[in-house]
Amino acid sequence: PNPGLDTRTLPYGDAALSEAAAAIARGECVAVPTETVYGLAADATDSRAVAGIYAAKGRPSFNPLIVHVPDIEAAQRIAEFDAEALKLAEAFWPGPLTLVLPVRADAEIAGLVTAGLSTVAIRVPAHRAMQGLLRACGKPLAAPSANASGSISPTRAAHVARSLGGRIRLILDDGPTEAGLESTIIAPGPPPRLLRPGPIAAEDIAALLQTPLAAAGDAIEAPGQLASHYAPGKPLRLNARATQPDEWLIGFGAVRGDDNLSATGDLIEAAARLFDALHRADMAERPRIAVAPIPHHGIGAAISDRLKRAAVPPD
Ligand code: TXA
Ligand code: MG
Repeated sequence: PNPGLDTRTLPYGDAALSEAAAAIARGECVAVPTETVYGLAADATDSRAVAGIYAAKGRPSFNPLIVHVPDIEAAQRIAEFDAEALKLAEAFWPGPLTLVLPVRADAEIAGLVTAGLSTVAIRVPAHRAMQGLLRACGKPLAAPSANASGSISPTRAAHVARSLGGRIRLILDDGPTEAGLESTIIAPGPPPRLLRPGPIAAEDIAALLQTPLAAAGDAIEAPGQLASHYAPGKPLRLNARATQPDEWLIGFGAVRGDDNLSATGDLIEAAARLFDALHRADMAERPRIAVAPIPHHGIGAAISDRLKRAAVPPD
């Protein structure tokens, strides 16, 4: 786009929603919170608008985007649902679950959204700001996380401003996001596959479907699964119980650290704080980051997934 744009942050409310809807109608992209992370939303039926998302993020064009819709009926106009997909949608929508489903032949979705794949990633978000925007503009919205490609995801409006300031015009601010990690991505089966761990634990999905989930194949099926992702601008060391003098330690539970994801060892609280803690560590004076061990059960699997990728330096 046009680095040097004047980026405005507006508090959530009717005036902000109608301004955001008008911007979407003009083909612009707008940063808006969801229950997971802030998204960079544009009209998914308008290829020019979608191209604007890729440009603002500096995202490689092979990486397809998630489509957000207000309800299951709207999702069914875009994707083919079988019984299993419907069961998942009814159990977890609105909420932080994305389904990768065959795209309908008559779906009005820009080809750039799916990057030419025959499937589409789709979800019904639970946040009042994203729901309000979807209803105000009456269009499905493509929205990846509102950060420059490969860098730390935003859970606050200030994170978006830090990453995309000058590259977008409007940020809708509705405070910190609740879940703090991107949605769980599932490709229903058989066998159902976990493409990205997230706030809805794989165990809970497997229990609902009464079948174990297969891991994603070796092919990069969800390109968000690139080895280096969510990366801060500094080296990051995992499973640290003590620090070197030049490290900023992100603690968990009894490993106190300079910052602590959850003093009581609560994984849900830790997930909600993770990206904020990485942003703070990135801005701290010390040149290296260390992170305390995190248990792998429940949402801990998703936290560990993000940390593992954040620890791989970008090319
Ligand atoms: O929580 C979220 O999902 C956030 C908020 C804004 O909704 N969005 C988000 O979008 O994380 P994004 O674009 O950063 O992640 C999209 C992921 C990527 O890993 C992408 O490769 C995968 O979804 N994806 C999209 N379409 C796909 C498809 N047809 N098949 C497989 N993976 C797909
Ligand atoms: Mg992202």
